[in-house]
Amino acid sequence: MCGIVGYVGEKQAQGVVIEGLRRLEYRGYDSAGIALIDDGRIASDKRAGKLANLEKAIEESPLPSSTTGIGHTRWATHGAPNDANAHPHLGARGRVALVHNGIIENFARLRARLEADGHDLVSETDTEVAAHLLEQQLEAGADLTTAMQAVCRELEGAFTLVAMDAQDPSRVVAARRNSPLVVGLGEGENFLGSDVAAFIEHTRDALELGQDQVVTITREGVDVSDFDGNPAEGTCYHVDWDLSAAEKDGYDWFMRKEIHEQPRAVADALLGRHTESGALKLDEVRISDEDLREIDKIIIIACGTSNYAAMVAKYAIEHWTRIACEVELSHEFRYRDPILTRNTLVVAISQSGETADTLMAIRYAREQKSKVLAICNTNGSTIPRESDAVIYTHAGPEIGVASTKGFVTQLIACYLLGLFLAQVRGTRFGDEIRDVVEELAKLPGHLQRQLDESASVLDLAKTLADAKSVLFLGRHAGFPVALEGALKLKELAYIHAEGFAAGELKHGPIALIEQDLPVFCVVPPRGRDQLHDKMVSAIQEIRARGARTIVLAEEGDDDVAPYADVLLPLPVVPTLLQPVVAAIPLQLFACELATLMGHDVDQPRNLAKSVTVE
Ligand code: F6R
Repeated sequence: MCGIVGYVGEKQAQGVVIEGLRRLEYRGYDSAGIALIDDGRIASDKRAGKLANLEKAIEESPLPSSTTGIGHTRWATHGAPNDANAHPHLGARGRVALVHNGIIENFARLRARLEADGHDLVSETDTEVAAHLLEQQLEAGADLTTAMQAVCRELEGAFTLVAMDAQDPSRVVAARRNSPLVVGLGEGENFLGSDVAAFIEHTRDALELGQDQVVTITREGVDVSDFDGNPAEGTCYHVDWDLSAAEKDGYDWFMRKEIHEQPRAVADALLGRHTESGALKLDEVRISDEDLREIDKIIIIACGTSNYAAMVAKYAIEHWTRIACEVELSHEFRYRDPILTRNTLVVAISQSGETADTLMAIRYAREQKSKVLAICNTNGSTIPRESDAVIYTHAGPEIGVASTKGFVTQLIACYLLGLFLAQVRGTRFGDEIRDVVEELAKLPGHLQRQLDESASVLDLAKTLADAKSVLFLGRHAGFPVALEGALKLKELAYIHAEGFAAGELKHGPIALIEQDLPVFCVVPPRGRDQLHDKMVSAIQEIRARGARTIVLAEEGDDDVAPYADVLLPLPVVPTLLQPVVAAIPLQLFACELATLMGHDVDQPRNLAKSVTVE
């Protein structure tokens, strides 16, 4: 939530900052702003709405040239998304410009103190107090770095702050607590960003900062300290993707591009993680085999789409390992006094690695001495750093706000984890594991074929553009897929959509069925217990009541075909892997429908990609 950019170097800062904001706009698009240092004063502009509004404003009324600048794209927390509340915020004398991501929890107290001292605060934000406090420190003789350290010691809550002093164009200073910030390391220039996308076209060398650190960037270098001014160190890393991964590459939406990247993303998620004979190799799980054998409970925590990946994981992990596995929304988990011991493995799933609810839940679990394993897509993010081990999903940057390849690669990572635990604990024979690995290895090919033959899904969207409500039904591992299908439709098309376990229908939801109501039904593969047949019965029941059934079933499933108004065939895969192939038509459908409705698919209303506040 909120994208932040900072730059000091030889280039024109305006171009670098605006380009960085464009790449971070998926983090929030309520307003955008920029500040530059011009001959001892701050020049700035900020506008409500998308970045395009700011760009138009500075085209009409150009800013001065400058090689030091900061910028911000906002997802509003305190105060309406208007010009006044947009960042950057200035200090009382206009000497400091500051941008912020997060929530300053004690801002009301600080604001009252500043107002009592005669400060006139012009916005409703929690951020403006930090700009005024910083400027107070500068006026009292501190340099910007020392001033930032002092202000951070006073602030409570979660924040990334980036600030400039009009009287010192040689540096930009930033600080972070519970909120993301990375440094881009250049030659004769350095960068700050909420994530590496902010500077990826300039450098792929990055510095990951720790908790409660202040960083000063100049042309010549980077200096890190803690909030007390003690020297500290960040961790350098090289970004394993380049600018092309952050471009639309001819697609109309990042989301559509990311849907089409899934065959490659799944192949990358599997790469190097099993031997030719099908044995799992997960070297990154830095938890000893002995400790893994001691685990008596797994709790998977996540939010949103990642939570649906967690629900699928429960089916797979319990089946393969016979370890009891609970799934819980991160924001509920730590407030209910969960039972955690040294033998509980907490698995935290997060595409961004920055979701505040999940991060706080991890900290809670570690305080209770449980081991935490993260499943994450974003190198250098906070959640893997604060976990005992991490399995990266290797999906590449996900820029569309609605998760697609992030979800599918999370599923792959969960399967790998389940099989790895089964291998270590001996709950499955080697040939059973090898059989599943062989099926996993076929998935990229299945997905590619689904994408190549997706015309019928796109046609379906045309017929449902007027739908007021859509239901999604599934059973077993298909139930989370139904929930995910409904979420995609809600967030992209703004249509009321609900997912249900099909077995629950008769316990209430069947009352919703009316003539022509579209109902997507994810049918389990044939040939395993009675799940398939029960789902077929449920489809008959809703069809008898007038529902329009859109059936996702494996190719050649003649039992269900007569009850499908629209049949979307799925590749033949084992039940536990079906969520991967069933997700594809649902993603394509939501993307296409939202496009037909004229919505911004990549930046749906009210949302932001990375939810860094609780
Ligand atoms: C929905 C979506 C969100 C995220 C959720 C968790 O399409 O993307 O529901 O899944 O906000 O985000 P991460 O996985 O980054 O923790």
